[in-house]
Amino acid sequence: MRLTDCHNIDDFRSLAKQRLPWPVFDYIDGAADDELTKARNTQAFASADLVPDVLAGVEEIDTSCTILGRKSALPLILSPTALQRVFHWQGERAVARAAEKFGVWCGISSLATVSIEEIGALISTPKMFQLYVHKDKGLNRSMIERCQAAKFDAIALTVDTIVGGKRERCLRSGFSSPPTFTLSSALSYALKPRWALDYVFREKFALPNLDTHVREGTSESVSIQRYFSEMLDQSMDWKMVEQIRADWGGKFALKGVMSVADARRAADMGIDAIMISNHGGRQLDGSRAPFDQLSEIVDAVGGRIEIICDGGVRRGTHVAKSLCAGATAASGGRLYLYALAAAGQAGVERALGIMQDEIIRTMKLMGVKRVDQFTAERLRWR
Ligand code: FNR
Ligand code: LAC
Repeated sequence: MRLTDCHNIDDFRSLAKQRLPWPVFDYIDGAADDELTKARNTQAFASADLVPDVLAGVEEIDTSCTILGRKSALPLILSPTALQRVFHWQGERAVARAAEKFGVWCGISSLATVSIEEIGALISTPKMFQLYVHKDKGLNRSMIERCQAAKFDAIALTVDTIVGGKRERCLRSGFSSPPTFTLSSALSYALKPRWALDYVFREKFALPNLDTHVREGTSESVSIQRYFSEMLDQSMDWKMVEQIRADWGGKFALKGVMSVADARRAADMGIDAIMISNHGGRQLDGSRAPFDQLSEIVDAVGGRIEIICDGGVRRGTHVAKSLCAGATAASGGRLYLYALAAAGQAGVERALGIMQDEIIRTMKLMGVKRVDQFTAERLRWR
């Protein structure tokens, strides 16, 4: 299978599986417990049907929208994800450059393998930094100050990882940060020599946003589950959110809100956006799918706060359904990560090209010329 054989996100998944050692593939593809939530995140989009209008004169259409005060060429955000240089040696640089080419927001994780400063200098399109609140207060302050200096456009504070999810594929493979070559997984690395040569001979693994303050995960190998449970601050609460937001002073989102009560509280505080998300099913298995949960949150706080539907998105029609249900935009991780792993920047560009093409096609087939015409009347729940 080659890159030109990839015509949808699932094709990139197959190519990624072919290219990656299985512990790395399973880190990306895997989720918590029985992985019910991960599966439901995508299946949820099949619970609602689109109702098109025809004869709408759709020769010229506009796919752009405004998200967190900045124009985006598509109603789609590349969610922040960790460890990208482990998936492909080009890592975050590839994803950021591809995002810039397509004019969409990209997210940079606290656990990114490229620094805040480098990404800030690399692209001029909108970028959000994803903050994990650590027990080490100096580290939290340092990341916020670095984002200010590098002129990031927003911070998204992740609130659904107060402890690590039980990711059983990672328990079996022993996947860790930095990756280690255990006796049992050594064969899987040897079987993927191209990945292994890149990993060994290209730029050395690093987590440059954290390594000024912590050894765990940066120079000392730990599992992601342990990293969350031991390094992050479990006392995090709304007071701390207020403080972080004040320290940052810019556009601010909460990533991982699911309940109406939390959405209301965020809106009452004047927070700019919530990302309705269960972390791609990687944390609380059995948590509801973002798309299933979208309507009640829109009913409660729609118009008062931007609402981003995060997770499970694999198709242009999934983006359209999210907007019809009241979201400002949709977002996702694996939709570009499989492509990154499959073929670096060229892969991410091809994936974004496919998503863009599917969004345009959906708009034309729906008789929609602007994304704000994706309204509730065009969606029916089964
Ligand atoms: C993630 N996600 C994530 N979220 C976050 O806030 N910080 C992070 O460092 C990461 N890292 C990460 C790594 C990998 C490999 C994946 C797959 C996901 C979650 C991510 O931002 C997003 O919420 C999910 O990816 C959404 O689900 P889909 O789009 O992958 O189905
Ligand atoms: C994950 C992280 C790092 O989901 O957020 O693996």
